[in-house]
Amino acid sequence: MPGPLFLSQTMTFYALQDGIAVITLHHPPVNSLSHGLRSFIVQALDAAEADPTVRGIVLTGNDKAFSAGADVAELGTPAQLAEPILLTVLARVAACRKPVVAALSGVALGGGLELAMTCHGRVALASAKVGLPEIHLGLIPGSTGTQLLPRLVGVPKALGMMLTGQPQTAQAWADSGLFDRVVPDDVVGAACALAREWADSGALPASTRERTLDSTAVAEQVAAERAKLSARQRLQPAYGALMDAVAGCALPFAEGAKRERELFLQLVSSQAAQALRYQFQAEREATKLPPDVQATPRPVRTVTVIGAGTMGAGIAICALDAGLDVLLLEQNDEALARGQQRVSEHYSGRVAAGKMQPAVAAAAQSRLTPTLDWTQLARADLVIEAVFEDLAVKQAVFQQIDTHARPGAVLATNTSYLDIDQIAQATSRPQDVLGLHFFSPANVMKLLEVVRGAKTAPDVLATGMALGKTLKKMPVLCGNAFGFIGNRIYNAYRNQCEFMLEDGAWPEDVDNALTGMGFAMGPFAVADLSGLDIAWRMRKAQAATRDPRVRYVSILDRLCELGRLGRKTGAGYYSYTNGRQAPTTDATVRGIIEQASAARGITRQPLSAEQICRRALLAMVNEAALLLAEGVAARASDIDVVLVQGYGFPRWEGGPVFWARQQDRAALERDLQALAQAAGFGFRLGDLDTLLA
Ligand code: NAI
Repeated sequence: MPGPLFLSQTMTFYALQDGIAVITLHHPPVNSLSHGLRSFIVQALDAAEADPTVRGIVLTGNDKAFSAGADVAELGTPAQLAEPILLTVLARVAACRKPVVAALSGVALGGGLELAMTCHGRVALASAKVGLPEIHLGLIPGSTGTQLLPRLVGVPKALGMMLTGQPQTAQAWADSGLFDRVVPDDVVGAACALAREWADSGALPASTRERTLDSTAVAEQVAAERAKLSARQRLQPAYGALMDAVAGCALPFAEGAKRERELFLQLVSSQAAQALRYQFQAEREATKLPPDVQATPRPVRTVTVIGAGTMGAGIAICALDAGLDVLLLEQNDEALARGQQRVSEHYSGRVAAGKMQPAVAAAAQSRLTPTLDWTQLARADLVIEAVFEDLAVKQAVFQQIDTHARPGAVLATNTSYLDIDQIAQATSRPQDVLGLHFFSPANVMKLLEVVRGAKTAPDVLATGMALGKTLKKMPVLCGNAFGFIGNRIYNAYRNQCEFMLEDGAWPEDVDNALTGMGFAMGPFAVADLSGLDIAWRMRKAQAATRDPRVRYVSILDRLCELGRLGRKTGAGYYSYTNGRQAPTTDATVRGIIEQASAARGITRQPLSAEQICRRALLAMVNEAALLLAEGVAARASDIDVVLVQGYGFPRWEGGPVFWARQQDRAALERDLQALAQAAGFGFRLGDLDTLLA
């Protein structure tokens, strides 16, 4: 029976099973290690050890969790630091003179796994999931996990688990040394049997803490793993600290544990950890609908994707992966065949790479119905249009959708920039229309902008947000404005980077500065990758209405005129030989840039990496302030989620709003004024008060 948490004289700490005390952790839903649960464990161990009828002890949880680790509700409260803290609980387990076996089912994460690893033995259900996810919050395991796991499975495997932070099945770790036994069922029975065997033998097995590792091997293995850290990992203090902590396994346990604790405490207050905690919270907030659009989502089982190009095929894949039925509709046989091929190549690639079981891939594809027949649309609960980015084309498609979709179906467009309301006007039911802006590759990128048109009904928005969750995306609600949240900020950022080219930087200076700060890619490498012609086409379309007084950088147009459209033509800002990007721009590009500077009367001045990053971030912050004031973003933190999830902004820097909040306010205002001056006509300054509140 689960033991109650509120301790009393009369409570039962354990159930006795043939000489083995089974202590069941009971703190629903996931046995987070609250103060109550920690106290219970210590008292239960005390009682079991003192009980002469008890020969061995089993610690277990429930189907959902052995324990998911620290109690988030306690973070920052006195309860978190109240004795017994987890370290005290672990010391009590390690000091037990009767064998203690952990029986794992559900999840054993973070502190939960540290508790299990401290026991004399571990038996796991094959389906149990184990992991040390602290790295995702900019931390390392802080209750001896860095000392225990290498002692059980060796340094390389232990680092593998701690570097990814991803939970993995016990089955996958069956032969690693982490578990004494991995069983298909009756984990408590198997754990009791093990405890009994040890009790019968009369010899208490050595605790994990008492094991020693070869100190030379530890040093060599840590050095080898440290050398493999990526540039982005090196920018985050937790990765280096993890290596330092694991290197401590060469020391006696107590010394290594002390070192781990020091490193852990340093990390807790680091800016990166604060930013990661903030992002975690911001992501939770982002998925909540504001009070005025609280509604029950409409049920979605069948989705029709119109247009089987780059985006349509990707969207179809993620809907199939989520278990939905998908109709893929195209305008002709050829385009449909191409789309089908994209989908089938994706699945065969996953299977070939060993990332998906053939049966799973086959089941997903069996739910796909490719079609040219618009009447099929009547089956769809939700339609996602992903045809060419052209208002007239999209309006014609939405007229067709209006004719064929059943009443109450949700009608979405994947447009990047077009006005949702103008698209909705093509139908007789604008209340059912919204934007669902996926990012490329649509089956990989987490971000989903859910765009609210003037007439979009609350339950349609709720359906968009719910679909985001079904597709395992990060849905963020946006207002209907050119570029929504992400592309609007990205445009401001890219404009600023183009200004910097005219002012004196080369593309590689800008790209290197930003990747040096942790961006996944720099803006010019991104432009080359996606093709310069997309922006060129848009610029040409806007040329007639562009005010000549606006600072307009024509470098991209010159490149396109030379046929330098990016990677696909072998050259753009950079040139590419055998697909490899040259580290610096070539003389042609430099010539074009110098001409642009001269035409604006600018004497080129080199810009430092710091200046480049600051100007790029300031441009984002300014646009963020405008977006918030215009109500395009509901919350400032949503903007940070969009930038991190969709645009390669370094997560451990929190996002542009988080960054701005760390800056000196007066310096921010001064530098934003300078930015406005340099941009000149038409540049709008945002209001920092609302953004930084
Ligand atoms: P694409 O050119 O690869 O695919 C468009 C597909 O739509 C083509 O296969 C075409 O045959 C089909 N199509 C055109 N008219 C049709 C009609 N009347 N009926 C049925 N099918 C029709 O274009 P892509 O890149 O997939 O973009 C699609 C939409 O997604 C655009 O609105 C674009 O702005 C947006 N988008 C694109 C992103 C990207 O990175 N490519 C990112 C986010 C949004």
